[in-house]
Amino acid sequence: MAAVLAEAARRRTFAIISHPDAGKTTLTEKFLLYAGAIQQAGAVQSRKAERATTSDWLELEQQRGISVTSAVARFEHDGYVLNLLDTPGHRDFSEDTYRVLSGVDAAVMVIDAARGVEPQTEKLYAVCRARGTPVITFVNKMDRPSPEPLEILDDLEATLGLVGQPVTWPIKPQGKFEGVVDRRDGRAYRFLANTPGGARVAQEDEGTVAGVPTEVREEVELLDAIGADVDVEEFLAGTSTPVFFGSALSNFGVRLLLDAVVALAPSPSAREDLVGAHRPVEAPFSGLVFKVQANLDPRHRDRLAFVRVCSGRFERGTSLTCARTGKRITAKYAHAVFGRDRETVDEAFPGDVIGLVNATDLRAGDTLHTDDAPVTFPPIPTFTPEHFATAHPADRSRVKQFRRGVAQLDEEGVVQVLRHDDLGDQAPIWAAVGQLQFDVASWRMANEFGAPVRLEGTRFEVARATDEDGATALETMRDVEVYRRESGAPMALFRSRYVAERIARDHPELTLDTLVLS
Ligand code: G4P
Repeated sequence: MAAVLAEAARRRTFAIISHPDAGKTTLTEKFLLYAGAIQQAGAVQSRKAERATTSDWLELEQQRGISVTSAVARFEHDGYVLNLLDTPGHRDFSEDTYRVLSGVDAAVMVIDAARGVEPQTEKLYAVCRARGTPVITFVNKMDRPSPEPLEILDDLEATLGLVGQPVTWPIKPQGKFEGVVDRRDGRAYRFLANTPGGARVAQEDEGTVAGVPTEVREEVELLDAIGADVDVEEFLAGTSTPVFFGSALSNFGVRLLLDAVVALAPSPSAREDLVGAHRPVEAPFSGLVFKVQANLDPRHRDRLAFVRVCSGRFERGTSLTCARTGKRITAKYAHAVFGRDRETVDEAFPGDVIGLVNATDLRAGDTLHTDDAPVTFPPIPTFTPEHFATAHPADRSRVKQFRRGVAQLDEEGVVQVLRHDDLGDQAPIWAAVGQLQFDVASWRMANEFGAPVRLEGTRFEVARATDEDGATALETMRDVEVYRRESGAPMALFRSRYVAERIARDHPELTLDTLVLS
């Protein structure tokens, strides 16, 4: 038990959230460089390049490759074990992107200094806020022209309602980014020229705030005067965010950020279960399946369930129970998933992620526990879909395979399947948060279930989760129809955003949620 507590205490499990091109890949790479997990810059980038150039690969396999190759990066820093979970579909948003966030204890939000908070960052942040996940902010690309740092903080607050508490402050006289002041101890870090390609960790020259340009010193003094310091309680509650300035590409300010992940991000802690009790980390093993992926790498054509360890020590070969089905699973083949290759793991601790191979019965949101210490964690919330298509079997003689395939994809959460009471199983609507989900689902229908589909556009643009009272009321209204998920949960589909907003405004008594509890 003491060993589990000690191991949990030195784990930091987090994700990087950002809009495409803000610098997530570059930052990940620099983290790995610091940790010595990779030897040279370009390893992550070149994988990205490789993906971009293998055009003879079926586009889809390639997309799936992305989420597999970098499912989890695990590295050590300062005696701590850091598990960096990739938010897959960085470019192609999907429900998996949201689900991954249920497996982390904190997030690093990367913002492009010049572009400010962008739409995808907003969406991902919304998930963190809904889950109460603490967020550390990295304002990247400070080597480029950027607004004044105070404007960047204002944008953060205006767009996300999140108060930024600057831990470092940029030294950028006349637009030239020279370094940062660490406001906690007044030290000034000036970054020296980096070796070409950023292969090495940036050189830092330490001084004091006394030596920095007057304008920067005055700004720092002003911040001190107004008390813009990190409030750890607020940060942990998700209402404020410690902010770091830097440049991932030139490796400026990255170490301070990495140190902060260790110092500020919480270690795994007791997780609330379905009935509101808390499962302590030292309790017997329990884990949350946050993602299931089928037929991924052509070299391993199987189903892999990604499990975040929530409590206890995981040992290979232990018999586990799936809380939803009551079925036993012997985790004979557990893997650490990093890169394309999988390493067999013998043990894992809270905060770690393991991949269970051929876990056919598992789906995202499932809880696993030891046979004698049951627990069920709440379902993973997802957001209401924004893309809709009616699915028809392209080949009428394959209707049975079509039904089976649709049911399976719904169960796995590849797409959400919605049905209308009057139409039954005819022409189900596929709903998704990202277009890519349709591509994956269609591809699997054709290749795995032998039932190619024809997708047809719908009249709907917006969905909101509702309840039975809401369903009854909405059924009488125009420009909205009530569909149901497999679970029976009603989902209102609106002709337009305008209609959805108008009905919500005119009928405040109706439940119209953007969060869906599956
Ligand atoms: P992403 O994973 O969030 O999509 O972003 P990624 O790291 O791939 O970075 C997107 C682009 O921004 C890359 O340029 C990258 O080199 C650049 N970049 C990242 N961090 C910084 C920074 O601190 N300063 C500056 N100036 N640029 C940065 P690219 O031209 O798209 O790719 P590449 O040709 O550099 O590989």
